Amino acid sequence: MSEPLVLGIESTCDETAAALVQGNRLLSNVVASSMNEHARYGGVIPEIASRAHAESFVPVVSKALKDVDMDLSQVDAIAVSAGPGLAGCLAVGVSGAKALAWAAKKPLYGINHVIGHIAVTQLQFGPFPQNALALIVSGGHTSLLHVDDLARSVQVVGTTLDDAAGECFDKIARLLGFPYPGGPHIDRHARLGDPHAIAVPQGLTKGRAGAEHPYDFSFSGVKTAVARWVERRQQAGLDIPVDDVCASLADSVATVLSRKAMAACHRFDTDTLIVGGGFSANSQLRGKLEELGDQEGVKVRIPKINLCTDNGAMVAMLGVNLVQAGLPPSAPDFSIDSAMP
Ligand code: KG4
Ligand code: ZN
Repeated sequence: MSEPLVLGIESTCDETAAALVQGNRLLSNVVASSMNEHARYGGVIPEIASRAHAESFVPVVSKALKDVDMDLSQVDAIAVSAGPGLAGCLAVGVSGAKALAWAAKKPLYGINHVIGHIAVTQLQFGPFPQNALALIVSGGHTSLLHVDDLARSVQVVGTTLDDAAGECFDKIARLLGFPYPGGPHIDRHARLGDPHAIAVPQGLTKGRAGAEHPYDFSFSGVKTAVARWVERRQQAGLDIPVDDVCASLADSVATVLSRKAMAACHRFDTDTLIVGGGFSANSQLRGKLEELGDQEGVKVRIPKINLCTDNGAMVAMLGVNLVQAGLPPSAPDFSIDSAMP
């Protein structure tokens, strides 16, 4: 099987998604989101998200197949996000995928959603180089990974010790009155503001004291510093310069992420940085990574925006990698792992 055709199914959070990938070609890609239903609550409500997955699962998978005039009998394998994510949401996607695999007698691969976020870049840039560094930034994760072999060997080089970058943005956005998810609102306002207007600390610039590697992150102090600054202004009855707050926050977070990613590339002697996760849609981060990449001779592979956020293509692409690597499918009774490392 030279170019496996894989159906990928995603349901870790608020997107129900399905896609067909053959080799590294994206054939179809369907996403239904329950995001608008959560906006007024300031965050994803697991119960609402799970119910939305149950409603959207069959229509979304059917459309992904129908868009290319295919049926399940034509796919070589099915892949589904088995974690990390919200347990109820994962349960809907994994149960649905198991039912499809059983009915159509297809091998089923339970994949790691976070690795899917970097696998998806192959659709745009082709296969991974032998030795790559990956920066994954989302609402739940901020990690630097060293990737020897995407299907078999991925090593954590650094991670956040507290909040993820997206989580930090979402929390500040809430304080500024933006609906969930606030990251894109901060991005938009940051483009209009002065990034040096407010002194925002760059969390954990040097890494944990005494740690072997300086590639960890910390965004909880960043969030607190910005929140305190805003609260002090509110208490003093002063206006909040929203654009400047957003620009200063975005500059601080984008700078620390891109500097550490570049330092890790040099440490692991790689000239390619793969970037993934919902937060990689952030324009300040994209700008900083491209600027530093040019200066330091590192090729930066950032996917286009619709591949940054959660989708089925990332799951299908990683499924293709697992099939091509000759790995066995997951056991029929494999379970979801909401805290998958
Ligand atoms: O990967 P993702 O879609 O879901 C998780 O697995 O977390 O990432 C969602 C996160 C949210 O925190 C959202 O606010 C953030 O990515 N995000 C952004 C932007 N677009 C999405 N943050 C900053 N700027 C953006 N343009
Ligand atoms: Zn994600």
